[in-house]
Amino acid sequence: MIKIQNLSKIYDAGGQKVIALDNINLTIKDGSIFGIIGLSGAGKSSLVRCINRLEEPTSGRIYIDDIDITSLDKKSLREARKKIGMIFQHFNLLSNATVFENVAFPLMIAGYPKKKIKERVYELLRLVDLEEKSQAYPSQLSGGQKQRVGIARALANHPRILLSDEATSALDPKTTKSILHLLKDINRKFGITIVIITHEMDVIKEICDEVAVIENGKIIEQASVVDLFTNPSADTTRTFIEDITESLPESIKISSKPDEKFVKISFRGSITSEPVISRMIKKFDVDVNIIKGSVDNVRDISIGKLLISITGNPDNILHSIEYLKETGLKVEVLTNELVDR
Ligand SMILES: Nc1ncnc2c1ncn2[C@@H]1O[C@H](COP(=O)(O)OP(=O)(O)OP(=O)(O)O)[C@@H](O)[C@H]1O
Ligand SMILES: [Mg+2]
Repeated sequence: MIKIQNLSKIYDAGGQKVIALDNINLTIKDGSIFGIIGLSGAGKSSLVRCINRLEEPTSGRIYIDDIDITSLDKKSLREARKKIGMIFQHFNLLSNATVFENVAFPLMIAGYPKKKIKERVYELLRLVDLEEKSQAYPSQLSGGQKQRVGIARALANHPRILLSDEATSALDPKTTKSILHLLKDINRKFGITIVIITHEMDVIKEICDEVAVIENGKIIEQASVVDLFTNPSADTTRTFIEDITESLPESIKISSKPDEKFVKISFRGSITSEPVISRMIKKFDVDVNIIKGSVDNVRDISIGKLLISITGNPDNILHSIEYLKETGLKVEVLTNELVDR
């Protein structure tokens, strides 16, 4: 478990103080894939780099499995860091060393005997599917292959935690997917806790269990990924998730007639296939127009959003909306304010 308590980081940039992290509190469960999302400059890298003390916290505590990382001396920190692997956006490989040598590097530093190093390096290269590239240099590899080397190197010392700072940001969407699948595999196979920093909601959606949103050095929202998608509460979170009420025609904004209501429905999982709406139409004798709809696959759960207009007798409309709510759907009746947001 990673426990971050009252963590602050203030940089001194030529006499000017920059508050990068402002009293962060987070708990990251063992074996989970935890995403941290935020805009550029929000403090993501500062946060993840404090976890292994690549950056020294200004104040606060970080516990990993009940060891206070923030209080360790240099020697104990070196030991502790073996259990924390890290991968980077620009891979950070040694350019004049082969793939084999790059992966062997942390093992050499840890003082493994030569034979053991060779065994372990090939084991890792098999894991990331790069055995045949062991003698290649980084310049001879694609971006995705470079990141696979980065991952193999990060796993060399059997870490319990893997920190990933925008590890897929320099990759195309297809390569990004394959790297994310590899990370998921590693998480499942070895139970390694993975902390993923990103500015892309697609990354979070693909593999994270939980997510925290960071803004101006503060955590403004934290939830399971499915909850965040179904029901984002902070405005910044909404900007990461396309909302179906965005860019709607003027006619919807001005409509507030009692015999017509615009309703946004969010649902997840099996309810997707239930004919709730057709039942509602029959039961309450109203008309329904589907204006817009979307389905997002988050982990293995589908999250649907539907924007409908309900027309008919005003009382029947109100009953219809109640009925939708009773079926467990999240229902929002649009007001001008909501549409304008
Ligand atoms: N070494 C430094 N010295 C001074 N200020 C810094 C330093 N590193 C980061 N900052 C500042 O701290 C704030 C947070 O930066 P950080 O790199 O953590 O953001 P980020 O969320 O990782 O951004 P990005 O998505 O662009 O990588 C920014 O205002 C940044 O300018
Ligand atoms: Mg960063």
